[in-house]
Amino acid sequence: MVVGETVNYSSEKHVKTRATSESKSTNGHSALIDFRDVEKIYRTEAGDFPALRGINLQIEGGEFVSVIGKSGSGKTTLVNMLTGIDHPTKGEISIAGVNIHELTESNMARWRGRNLGVVFQFFQLLPTLSVVQNVMIPMDFCNMYVPAERMGIAMNLLEQVGIADHAHKPPSRLSGGQQQRAAIARALANDPPIIATDEPTGNLDSKTANQVFELFQKLVDGGKTILMVTHDEDLAKRAGRTVEIADGEIIRQ
Ligand SMILES: Nc1ncnc2c1ncn2[C@@H]1O[C@H](COP(=O)(O)OP(=O)(O)OP(=O)(O)O)[C@@H](O)[C@H]1O
Ligand SMILES: [Mg+2]
Repeated sequence: MVVGETVNYSSEKHVKTRATSESKSTNGHSALIDFRDVEKIYRTEAGDFPALRGINLQIEGGEFVSVIGKSGSGKTTLVNMLTGIDHPTKGEISIAGVNIHELTESNMARWRGRNLGVVFQFFQLLPTLSVVQNVMIPMDFCNMYVPAERMGIAMNLLEQVGIADHAHKPPSRLSGGQQQRAAIARALANDPPIIATDEPTGNLDSKTANQVFELFQKLVDGGKTILMVTHDEDLAKRAGRTVEIADGEIIRQ
Protein backbone atom coordinates (compact mmCIF):
# COMPACT_ATOMS: atom_id res chain seq x y z
CA MET A 1 0.00 0.00 0.00
CA VAL A 2 2.90 2.41 0.55
CA VAL A 3 3.36 4.49 -2.56
CA GLY A 4 6.36 6.70 -1.87
CA GLU A 5 9.73 5.33 -0.86
CA THR A 6 11.01 8.32 1.01
CA VAL A 7 7.88 9.51 2.75
CA ASN A 8 6.09 7.60 5.42
CA TYR A 9 2.44 7.91 4.53
CA SER A 10 -0.12 5.40 3.50
CA SER A 11 -3.68 4.26 3.14
CA GLU A 12 -6.97 4.86 4.92
CA LYS A 13 -6.39 2.18 7.50
CA HIS A 14 -3.14 3.80 8.43
CA VAL A 15 -4.60 7.28 8.47
CA LYS A 16 -7.34 6.27 10.86
CA THR A 17 -4.92 4.88 13.37
CA ARG A 18 -1.80 7.01 13.04
CA ALA A 19 -1.32 10.09 15.11
CA THR A 20 1.59 11.96 16.60
CA SER A 21 1.99 13.95 19.74
CA GLU A 22 2.14 17.09 17.58
CA SER A 23 -1.44 16.61 16.49
CA LYS A 24 -3.49 17.52 19.54
CA SER A 25 -6.84 19.18 19.63
CA THR A 26 -7.90 21.42 22.46
CA ASN A 27 -9.36 18.51 24.42
CA GLY A 28 -5.99 16.78 24.41
CA HIS A 29 -6.89 14.05 21.92
CA SER A 30 -5.28 13.74 18.54
CA ALA A 31 -7.27 15.51 15.86
CA LEU A 32 -7.62 13.89 12.46
CA ILE A 33 -7.19 17.28 10.77
CA ASP A 34 -5.02 19.88 12.47
CA PHE A 35 -4.38 23.41 11.16
CA ARG A 36 -1.79 25.22 13.25
CA ASP A 37 -1.28 28.96 12.76
CA VAL A 38 -1.92 28.64 9.05
CA GLU A 39 -1.37 31.77 6.98
CA LYS A 40 -1.76 32.21 3.26
CA ILE A 41 -0.51 35.30 1.53
CA TYR A 42 -1.21 35.69 -2.18
CA ARG A 43 1.53 37.67 -3.83
CA THR A 44 0.08 39.81 -6.59
CA GLU A 45 1.27 42.74 -8.67
CA ALA A 46 -0.93 44.95 -6.53
CA GLY A 47 0.90 43.71 -3.42
CA ASP A 48 0.60 40.94 -0.86
CA PHE A 49 -2.88 39.82 0.07
CA PRO A 50 -3.33 37.87 3.31
CA ALA A 51 -6.21 35.45 2.54
CA LEU A 52 -5.76 33.34 5.69
CA ARG A 53 -4.48 34.95 8.86
CA GLY A 54 -3.55 32.49 11.59
CA ILE A 55 -6.03 29.65 11.21
CA ASN A 56 -6.15 27.17 14.09
CA LEU A 57 -8.66 24.43 13.45
CA GLN A 58 -8.91 20.89 14.71
CA ILE A 59 -11.37 18.39 13.28
CA GLU A 60 -11.93 14.98 14.80
CA GLY A 61 -12.54 11.82 12.78
CA GLY A 62 -16.25 11.40 12.02
CA GLU A 63 -17.13 15.10 12.24
CA PHE A 64 -19.29 16.87 9.67
CA VAL A 65 -18.03 20.46 9.59
CA SER A 66 -19.56 23.20 7.50
CA VAL A 67 -17.59 26.34 6.66
CA ILE A 68 -19.40 29.59 6.03
CA GLY A 69 -18.35 33.19 5.48
CA LYS A 70 -18.83 36.04 3.05
CA SER A 71 -17.51 35.93 -0.49
CA GLY A 72 -13.76 36.54 -0.38
CA SER A 73 -13.42 35.57 3.29
CA GLY A 74 -10.99 32.72 2.51
CA LYS A 75 -13.15 29.56 2.39
CA THR A 76 -11.81 28.18 -0.89
CA THR A 77 -8.29 29.07 0.17
CA LEU A 78 -8.84 27.04 3.36
CA VAL A 79 -10.10 24.01 1.40
CA ASN A 80 -7.16 24.28 -0.99
CA MET A 81 -4.80 24.15 1.99
CA LEU A 82 -6.51 21.00 3.26
CA THR A 83 -6.46 19.22 -0.08
CA GLY A 84 -2.89 20.28 -0.83
CA ILE A 85 -4.04 21.97 -4.05
CA ASP A 86 -2.16 24.99 -2.66
CA HIS A 87 0.40 25.48 0.12
CA PRO A 88 0.31 27.68 3.21
CA THR A 89 2.75 30.58 3.42
CA LYS A 90 3.25 29.84 7.13
CA GLY A 91 2.03 27.31 9.65
CA GLU A 92 1.38 23.59 9.51
CA ILE A 93 -1.39 21.27 8.45
CA SER A 94 -1.30 17.70 9.59
CA ILE A 95 -3.74 14.97 8.77
CA ALA A 96 -3.47 11.98 11.07
CA GLY A 97 0.06 13.01 11.84
CA VAL A 98 1.16 13.50 8.23
CA ASN A 99 2.43 17.04 7.65
CA ILE A 100 0.96 17.30 4.19
CA HIS A 101 2.82 20.43 3.17
CA GLU A 102 6.08 18.52 3.60
CA LEU A 103 5.16 16.01 0.89
CA THR A 104 6.56 16.50 -2.60
CA GLU A 105 4.04 17.34 -5.34
CA SER A 106 3.84 13.80 -6.67
CA ASN A 107 3.67 12.21 -3.23
CA MET A 108 1.02 14.74 -2.30
CA ALA A 109 -1.08 13.81 -5.31
CA ARG A 110 -0.92 10.14 -4.49
CA TRP A 111 -1.50 10.72 -0.79
CA ARG A 112 -4.55 12.83 -1.61
CA GLY A 113 -5.82 10.18 -4.01
CA ARG A 114 -6.02 7.66 -1.20
CA ASN A 115 -6.91 9.78 1.78
CA LEU A 116 -8.99 12.71 0.61
CA GLY A 117 -11.94 12.85 -1.76
CA VAL A 118 -12.61 16.27 -3.24
CA VAL A 119 -15.99 17.42 -4.57
CA PHE A 120 -16.23 20.72 -6.46
CA GLN A 121 -19.13 23.05 -7.25
CA PHE A 122 -18.91 22.41 -11.00
CA PHE A 123 -18.39 18.64 -10.70
CA GLN A 124 -15.19 18.57 -12.85
CA LEU A 125 -16.06 15.30 -14.54
CA LEU A 126 -14.07 14.47 -17.66
CA PRO A 127 -16.48 14.90 -20.60
CA THR A 128 -14.89 12.33 -22.90
CA LEU A 129 -15.20 9.48 -20.40
CA SER A 130 -18.36 7.72 -19.26
CA VAL A 131 -19.62 8.23 -15.72
CA VAL A 132 -18.23 4.91 -14.50
CA GLN A 133 -14.87 5.58 -16.19
CA ASN A 134 -14.74 8.90 -14.33
CA VAL A 135 -15.22 7.04 -11.05
CA MET A 136 -12.37 4.69 -11.92
CA ILE A 137 -9.83 7.50 -12.57
CA PRO A 138 -8.61 7.77 -8.94
CA MET A 139 -8.32 3.97 -8.71
CA ASP A 140 -6.12 3.90 -11.82
CA PHE A 141 -4.09 6.89 -10.64
CA CYS A 142 -3.34 5.40 -7.23
CA ASN A 143 -3.14 1.83 -8.50
CA MET A 144 -5.84 0.77 -6.06
CA TYR A 145 -7.49 -2.64 -6.22
CA VAL A 146 -6.87 -5.35 -8.79
CA PRO A 147 -7.57 -3.74 -12.20
CA ALA A 148 -10.21 -6.34 -13.08
CA GLU A 149 -12.17 -5.41 -9.93
CA ARG A 150 -12.24 -1.65 -10.49
CA MET A 151 -15.31 -1.59 -12.69
CA GLY A 152 -17.34 -3.58 -10.13
CA ILE A 153 -16.26 -1.33 -7.26
CA ALA A 154 -17.11 1.77 -9.31
CA MET A 155 -20.53 0.33 -10.16
CA ASN A 156 -21.16 -0.31 -6.45
CA LEU A 157 -20.35 3.30 -5.68
CA LEU A 158 -22.72 4.51 -8.40
CA GLU A 159 -25.35 2.24 -6.87
CA GLN A 160 -24.71 3.83 -3.46
CA VAL A 161 -25.23 7.34 -4.83
CA GLY A 162 -28.27 6.22 -6.82
CA ILE A 163 -27.12 6.63 -10.43
CA ALA A 164 -25.99 3.15 -11.50
CA ASP A 165 -28.47 3.31 -14.40
CA HIS A 166 -26.45 6.17 -15.90
CA ALA A 167 -23.02 4.55 -15.56
CA HIS A 168 -22.27 4.25 -19.25
CA LYS A 169 -23.43 7.68 -20.36
CA PRO A 170 -21.17 10.70 -20.81
CA PRO A 171 -21.54 13.16 -17.89
CA SER A 172 -23.18 15.75 -20.17
CA ARG A 173 -26.26 13.51 -20.46
CA LEU A 174 -26.87 13.68 -16.70
CA SER A 175 -28.69 16.36 -14.71
CA GLY A 176 -26.69 18.62 -12.39
CA GLY A 177 -27.69 16.60 -9.34
CA GLN A 178 -26.75 13.36 -11.05
CA GLN A 179 -23.40 14.81 -12.12
CA GLN A 180 -22.72 15.82 -8.54
CA ARG A 181 -23.59 12.29 -7.40
CA ALA A 182 -21.10 10.99 -9.97
CA ALA A 183 -18.49 13.39 -8.60
CA ILE A 184 -19.20 12.13 -5.07
CA ALA A 185 -18.82 8.51 -6.25
CA ARG A 186 -15.49 9.49 -7.82
CA ALA A 187 -14.42 11.14 -4.54
CA LEU A 188 -15.21 7.86 -2.78
CA ALA A 189 -13.34 5.72 -5.32
CA ASN A 190 -10.43 4.86 -3.05
CA ASP A 191 -12.55 4.85 0.12
CA PRO A 192 -10.80 7.90 1.63
CA PRO A 193 -11.54 8.76 5.28
CA ILE A 194 -11.97 12.48 4.48
CA ILE A 195 -14.15 14.36 1.98
CA ALA A 196 -13.47 18.05 1.32
CA THR A 197 -16.04 19.92 -0.68
CA ASP A 198 -16.37 23.52 -1.85
CA GLU A 199 -19.93 24.70 -2.56
CA PRO A 200 -21.14 21.24 -3.61
CA THR A 201 -24.73 22.44 -3.83
CA GLY A 202 -23.96 25.88 -5.27
CA ASN A 203 -25.08 24.84 -8.73
CA LEU A 204 -28.13 22.81 -7.70
CA ASP A 205 -31.77 23.62 -6.99
CA SER A 206 -32.83 23.36 -3.34
CA LYS A 207 -34.44 19.92 -3.61
CA THR A 208 -31.39 18.43 -5.33
CA ALA A 209 -29.13 20.27 -2.90
CA ASN A 210 -30.98 18.61 -0.06
CA GLN A 211 -30.50 15.17 -1.62
CA VAL A 212 -26.77 15.78 -2.03
CA PHE A 213 -26.57 16.96 1.59
CA GLU A 214 -28.35 13.80 2.73
CA LEU A 215 -25.83 11.75 0.81
CA PHE A 216 -23.02 13.49 2.70
CA GLN A 217 -24.89 12.91 5.95
CA LYS A 218 -25.09 9.20 5.14
CA LEU A 219 -21.33 9.14 4.51
CA VAL A 220 -20.68 10.78 7.89
CA ASP A 221 -22.98 8.23 9.52
CA GLY A 222 -20.80 5.60 7.88
CA GLY A 223 -17.67 7.07 9.50
CA LYS A 224 -16.36 9.60 6.97
CA THR A 225 -15.13 13.04 8.01
CA ILE A 226 -16.46 15.90 5.90
CA LEU A 227 -15.51 19.54 5.57
CA MET A 228 -18.08 21.35 3.44
CA VAL A 229 -17.91 24.99 2.36
CA THR A 230 -21.35 26.39 1.67
CA HIS A 231 -23.26 29.62 1.21
CA ASP A 232 -26.45 27.87 2.23
CA GLU A 233 -26.96 28.72 5.90
CA ASP A 234 -29.76 26.20 6.33
CA LEU A 235 -27.57 23.36 5.10
CA ALA A 236 -24.63 24.66 7.14
CA LYS A 237 -26.70 24.48 10.32
CA ARG A 238 -27.55 20.85 9.66
CA ALA A 239 -23.88 19.82 9.74
CA GLY A 240 -22.55 18.74 13.13
CA ARG A 241 -20.52 21.92 13.56
CA THR A 242 -20.16 25.22 11.75
CA VAL A 243 -16.94 27.17 11.33
CA GLU A 244 -17.31 30.79 10.27
CA ILE A 245 -14.54 32.73 8.55
CA ALA A 246 -14.29 36.49 8.11
CA ASP A 247 -11.35 38.23 6.44
CA GLY A 248 -9.15 35.17 6.68
CA GLU A 249 -9.79 34.50 10.35
CA ILE A 250 -12.02 32.03 12.15
CA ILE A 251 -14.61 34.00 14.11
CA ARG A 252 -16.72 31.01 15.23
CA GLN A 253 -16.05 27.30 15.48
N1 LIG B 1 -4.75 33.16 -6.66
C1 LIG B 1 -5.06 34.28 -6.00
N2 LIG B 1 -4.31 35.38 -6.11
C2 LIG B 1 -4.58 36.51 -5.44
N3 LIG B 1 -5.64 36.64 -4.60
C3 LIG B 1 -6.43 35.58 -4.45
C4 LIG B 1 -6.20 34.36 -5.14
N4 LIG B 1 -7.16 33.47 -4.79
C5 LIG B 1 -7.96 34.13 -3.93
N5 LIG B 1 -7.52 35.38 -3.71
C6 LIG B 1 -8.13 36.38 -2.81
O1 LIG B 1 -8.15 35.81 -1.50
C7 LIG B 1 -9.37 36.10 -0.85
C8 LIG B 1 -10.03 34.82 -0.44
O2 LIG B 1 -10.43 34.11 -1.59
P1 LIG B 1 -11.27 32.77 -1.53
O3 LIG B 1 -11.43 32.30 -2.92
O4 LIG B 1 -10.64 31.86 -0.56
O5 LIG B 1 -12.66 33.29 -0.94
P2 LIG B 1 -14.03 32.52 -0.71
O6 LIG B 1 -14.38 32.71 0.73
O7 LIG B 1 -13.91 31.13 -1.21
O8 LIG B 1 -15.05 33.36 -1.60
P3 LIG B 1 -16.34 32.86 -2.43
O9 LIG B 1 -17.42 32.68 -1.41
O10 LIG B 1 -16.63 34.00 -3.35
O11 LIG B 1 -16.00 31.61 -3.16
C9 LIG B 1 -10.19 36.92 -1.83
O12 LIG B 1 -10.05 38.29 -1.50
C10 LIG B 1 -9.58 36.63 -3.17
O13 LIG B 1 -9.71 37.73 -4.04
MG1 LIG C 1 -14.85 30.10 -2.77
